[in-house]
Amino acid sequence: MSQQLGGQQILILKEGSTRTRGRDAQGMNITAAIAVASAVRTTLGPKGMDKMLVDTIGDVVITNDGVTILKEMDIEHPAAKMMVEVAKTQDDEVGDGTTTAVVIAGELLKKAEGLLEQDVHPTIIAAGYRQAAEKAQEFLKDIAIDVKATDKAMLKKIAETAMTGKGAEASKDALCDLVVKAVTMVADEDGTVNTDNIKVEKKTGGSINDSEIIEGVLIDKERVHPSMPKKVTNAKILLLNAAVEFKKTEVDAEINITHPDQLQAFLDEEERMVRGIVDKIVASGANVLFCQKGIDDIAQHYLSKAGIFATRRVKKSDMEKLARATGASLVSSIDAITKEELGKAGLVEERKVSGEEMTFVEQCKNPKAVSIIVRGGTEHVVDELERAIHDALRVVSVVVEDKKIVVGGGAPETELSLRLREFAASVGGRAQLAIEAFAAALEIIPRTLAENAGLDPIDMLVEIRAAHEKGKKTFGLNVYEGKAVDMKAAGVFEPLRVKTQAISSAAEAAIMILRIDDVIASSKSPSPEGGMPPGGMGGMGGMPPGMGDY
Ligand SMILES: Nc1ncnc2c1ncn2[C@@H]1O[C@H](COP(=O)(O)OP(=O)(O)O)[C@@H](O)[C@H]1O
Ligand SMILES: [Mg+2]
Repeated sequence: MSQQLGGQQILILKEGSTRTRGRDAQGMNITAAIAVASAVRTTLGPKGMDKMLVDTIGDVVITNDGVTILKEMDIEHPAAKMMVEVAKTQDDEVGDGTTTAVVIAGELLKKAEGLLEQDVHPTIIAAGYRQAAEKAQEFLKDIAIDVKATDKAMLKKIAETAMTGKGAEASKDALCDLVVKAVTMVADEDGTVNTDNIKVEKKTGGSINDSEIIEGVLIDKERVHPSMPKKVTNAKILLLNAAVEFKKTEVDAEINITHPDQLQAFLDEEERMVRGIVDKIVASGANVLFCQKGIDDIAQHYLSKAGIFATRRVKKSDMEKLARATGASLVSSIDAITKEELGKAGLVEERKVSGEEMTFVEQCKNPKAVSIIVRGGTEHVVDELERAIHDALRVVSVVVEDKKIVVGGGAPETELSLRLREFAASVGGRAQLAIEAFAAALEIIPRTLAENAGLDPIDMLVEIRAAHEKGKKTFGLNVYEGKAVDMKAAGVFEPLRVKTQAISSAAEAAIMILRIDDVIASSKSPSPEGGMPPGGMGGMGGMPPGMGDY
């Protein structure tokens, strides 16, 4: 980039940097963001399709989950990345509704493009969108339905809605029971739910219906030595993040042995040291050891002689769960092992799950620790089930916390759209156009639900809209029969937070993208063309060479 000053060129940016401005910059960002939205759009709703994602080393992920698809897609274009952020935020805040959020953001931008073509200034569109988004929150709160955190039948319906169309269909009933049970078990009296207390452990083999819930923590590890006890009642648990083995020197050292006695002495010393560690463990009163590092052969021998149940190379996340469940502290040095650091559980036992040994830690000091074992025929099935369970756990927790829900099936979006149109008329001026565009954009949800179910989107939308105009606020799309029905009667419910969050982050992202009128990309040295990242999607994003030179 350069500027002219009295015939002399002044370079401002590094050579190879590219710059796009005005409508071009907007156009490119919008197109890239829309491309992301249309990539996930076909997965929305109970009849949504799945995506198969293959990474560079050939690993396959088959999923219907918006955020998983976007994370796996390896997106490079900066505006497209913002859409991925929308999905991630939605996932962090609510755990469900990721596709919804991205699809709405994409549609907001598409409608904005129409306005830009009519020469409405982006600032006006952004302001109108912001106003509409705020109003939408108000309307949403108004149509929300209050529920009780103890209403298990309702919680189950919410779990079912989240699991619909996720490859868990056949066993939805059983799985949703597990989910509701798990959440109610870990919920605090004040209504907060920490889903970290729920461990989801996958196990390939068996059928989905063999999935079960365990009160306690489940660790995918077996004891290190067969002569250790298989079952320890009244367990005193030590969580150790240090190796139970002979300490190897940090530097490469060589020991010259010139006499057989010296070798024996060396080995004796090794044994004595390891034994010292085991003695320390025994002295603390521990009868169960979870070690994050290794346990060597000699140590295994002494530990089993002492009747201690030990597992090694336990994952850090599992250690943290064990600490929370048993009240044990994480001990990171051998010298720090004392009685005070131990945790408690009524039972630690190794049991077989589809032919593989796992360690069950039950009757924990903290009863708010539960695990769900997810079983299923193949790895892909189990992976997708785990994602569906994750979504369901999160939505049920959110409802237990917020106690507010809305119906699904495109009903709230249609209602909001209607009310926003009325609101727009009261605002008038150019902002009215933007608010109307926002209102129209929300209808992408019922429209897409219809499209994905192979129904005529226009017919369906007209039918649902007509119902709402008559004051039937909870009417949405029955995707199976292709008609507008009362979603309340159909039992399709979602947390209010799914919608409030989806609309606010979609609006934020759309506004942010709209307000950009200048893209300055510094050159990436190894890239032959230099300039912006290629931005992959739909052939969009990369700038034609030379375009940035003003
Ligand atoms: N039984 C159902 N009938 C109609 N719509 C449903 C039903 N179950 C879920 N939906 C709708 O499907 C949409 C969610 O689809 P989903 O694929 O889970 O995407 P997201 O990632 O946004 O959660 C919501 O609008 C929800 O109301
Ligand atoms: Mg969902």
